[in-house]
Order: sequence, then structure tokens, then C-alpha cells
Amino acid sequence: MTRIALLGATGSIGSQALEVVDANPDLEMCALASASQPLDDLVAKYGVAHAQVGGDLTELLEASSPDVVLNAVVGFAGVRATLWALERGVTLALANKESLVAAGDLATAAWQRGGGRLLPVDSEHSAVFQCLEGRAEHTVDSLVLTASGGPFRNRPLEELVSVTVEEALTHPTWSMGRKITVDSATLANKGLELIEAHYLFGLPYERIEVVVHPSSVVHALVRFRDGAALAHLGYPDMRVPISFALTYPDRRPTSVPTLDLAAGLTLEFAAPDPERFPLLPLAREAGERGGTFPCAFNAANEVAVSTFLDGGIGFLDMPSLVADVLGRVDGAPARDVEELVEADAEARRLAQGRLAAA
Ligand SMILES: NC(=O)c1ccc[n+]([C@@H]2O[C@H](COP(=O)([O-])OP(=O)(O)OC[C@H]3O[C@@H](n4cnc5c(N)ncnc54)[C@H](OP(=O)(O)O)[C@@H]3O)[C@@H](O)[C@H]2O)c1
Repeated sequence: MTRIALLGATGSIGSQALEVVDANPDLEMCALASASQPLDDLVAKYGVAHAQVGGDLTELLEASSPDVVLNAVVGFAGVRATLWALERGVTLALANKESLVAAGDLATAAWQRGGGRLLPVDSEHSAVFQCLEGRAEHTVDSLVLTASGGPFRNRPLEELVSVTVEEALTHPTWSMGRKITVDSATLANKGLELIEAHYLFGLPYERIEVVVHPSSVVHALVRFRDGAALAHLGYPDMRVPISFALTYPDRRPTSVPTLDLAAGLTLEFAAPDPERFPLLPLAREAGERGGTFPCAFNAANEVAVSTFLDGGIGFLDMPSLVADVLGRVDGAPARDVEELVEADAEARRLAQGRLAAA
């Protein structure tokens, strides 16, 4: 039996993870966590001894001693759980990209010390992981992450100012939680994924490219030095990368159909427009500057998205808020998690201050 702690059990990834658990009798839930939604029904269904609504996720992990931590919490709130698993060499199935973006250097060091497995759940990173498996590092030329381009890929630029929350929450190819859906509309999500890929696969930013690919069938590609490229294809359904991570290296069956090529398949790719999607170049710049710039990017973006969702700012105010915060933080590296938490808090204070002054 593999004992899983599912953090974010009531969310989009969390509920799909429970479907994967239901389909695999050797996967057992040992802990469940949410922020505020009750867990009683899930506790009863899975006979889980450890469950927590809110509170310190590392206490839950200590008490339940899982074999695998599936971190499907949204936002910076997942940082300590990610570090907990990496430090102890407990297998980490990581959906919570924000934690690796914000704590990249600390997480890398903890991962090296712990020596455990880090299995990406993000579909693009799961794809890269699979294309890289068994390949020597020196043969790799570059990585390519695909982005659907979201709902506003073709909308005239002058109309973006009036985008509504409802429109931003309508994603063309994926069904996801609210925060990541807005991030996908601005491409902040791909910016976070760019930084995530840098830390997961150890490549410099100039060797990680993002392309817009509207049908979301190709999840990522790896280019090799001999001119070949390997791609990972499949219908956009998160149960595939979740199942891959939870049953690794077994690649168990899922209910997701394999590609029907005879039905026709259009594979289009284009460079992302930096004017339409300014959060993508801002994320790249934050990643390249290093230190706590990625942490500040993430914190300012979290404030921007939640304020947008509450109707407090418009769609185009999100990138300007993040740019403003990145221009004002010092970005000094965090030596420990307390300094990281302080860098996160400082970026949030600056973002809130700017919002209050507007
Ligand atoms: N959804 C996708 O298809 C997808 C794909 C790739 C990556 N991801 C990543 O996966 C993560 C989760 O995304 P999602 O779409 O599943 O989000 P979601 O639907 O909003 O769910 C978030 C989950 O996290 C819980 N949570 C939030 N803060 C918490 C805290 N402090 N302590 C404990 N639990 C907390 C929520 O509990 P409550 O229900 O009580 O609020 C909920 O269960 C994000 O990092 C996202 O970027 C998602």
C-alpha cells in the first residue's frame, strides 16, 4: 500500500486525485487537508485518521507519516509542506507550483539533502519529466512548455481592459480552480511554470521556451542536441499526470481515452505576444534575477488575482501591479524559510499599499 497525504483535498486537483485513488486499490489515503471546506464526508469515505481544515500542514504531515505527499494546495500556503517533504526525502507529487516558484533555492537545497523523489503533477512538467527519463543531461538542448493562450488569445488588445471575471474564468481547454484559471488567461501561469521548470530540471532560463498551442494536446517537448525533439501528447485531462505521479513508475490505466488521430488533430504553435501577456516576460525576468524576485512575483500575482476576482481591479491592472511590486522589492535571497515568509509578506504589503493608494 502507498499511503498518501492529500493537501487541498476539496479542490480541482484534489477531487481528481481522489478519483485516481478510487481506481487503484493499493493507494490509500492517510491524511486530508483543506483551507475551510469541511472534510467529514471524505474522512468517512476513506477512513482517514488524520484530517485538518486550516492550520499548520506540517503538523498533519508529522502526525500521518505519509509515503507520498500530494501537494494540491493553491498558492504560497503550500510552501512549508513542500519543504517538509523534500527535506525528509518523502516522495512529493507537486501540483502546488507556487511553492517551488517562491522557495526554489531553499526547495532545491532541501531536495538535495533529503534525496527523495519529486514528481511533477503540472501536466507540462510531467510531460517534460517523461521525455527526459533515461536521457543523459548533456544530450538535452532545450525544453518547450506549451500554453493554450487562454480565452483572450485573439481578443483585440483594446478590449482586454473590459474583460469580466466571468470571462476570465472560462478556460477554452482545461477545467481548473479559480486562481489558476485566471493565471491561465494572463499567462502568469506559464510564467510560474517557466520558473518551476527551471528548478525541477536545472536548466537555465534561456533554454526553456514557451509557445502558444491552442488545443493543449502537446503538453511539452524536449529538444536534443542531435536535432531530434520528443513531445508528450494527450487530451487535456489532469487525471493522467496525477495518476502518473501517484502510481510511478507503473503508469496505470485511467479512464482517459488515448488520442484518436483518425478523427483529425490540429497542432498549431505560435510565439506568445509579450504585449498581450506581459506577466510572462515579467516572470522570466524575475526568474533570471533570482533571489526572492520569483517569490515577490508570485506574492504580487496572488494579491492581483484575488483582488481581480473580488472585483477590486480590472484585468489589465494585474500585470501593472506585479510590475510595480517587482520594481520596489530588493529581491535579496532568503537564507531560511522565515526570511522567505518575510519576503512574501513584504511583496504583499507593497501590493496592498499600491492598491490602497490607487
Ligand atoms: N486545477 C488544475 O487543473 C491544475 C493543473 C496544474 C496545476 N495546478 C495547481 O494545483 C494547485 C491546486 O489547484 P486547484 O485548481 O486544484 O485549486 P482549487 O480548486 O482552488 O483548490 C485548492 C485547494 O487547496 C486548499 N487550500 C487552500 N489553501 C489551503 C491551506 N492554507 N491549507 C490547506 N488547504 C488549502 C483548498 O481548500 P478549500 O476548498 O477549503 O478552500 C482546496 O482544497 C495550484 O497550485 C495550481 O496551480 C492545478
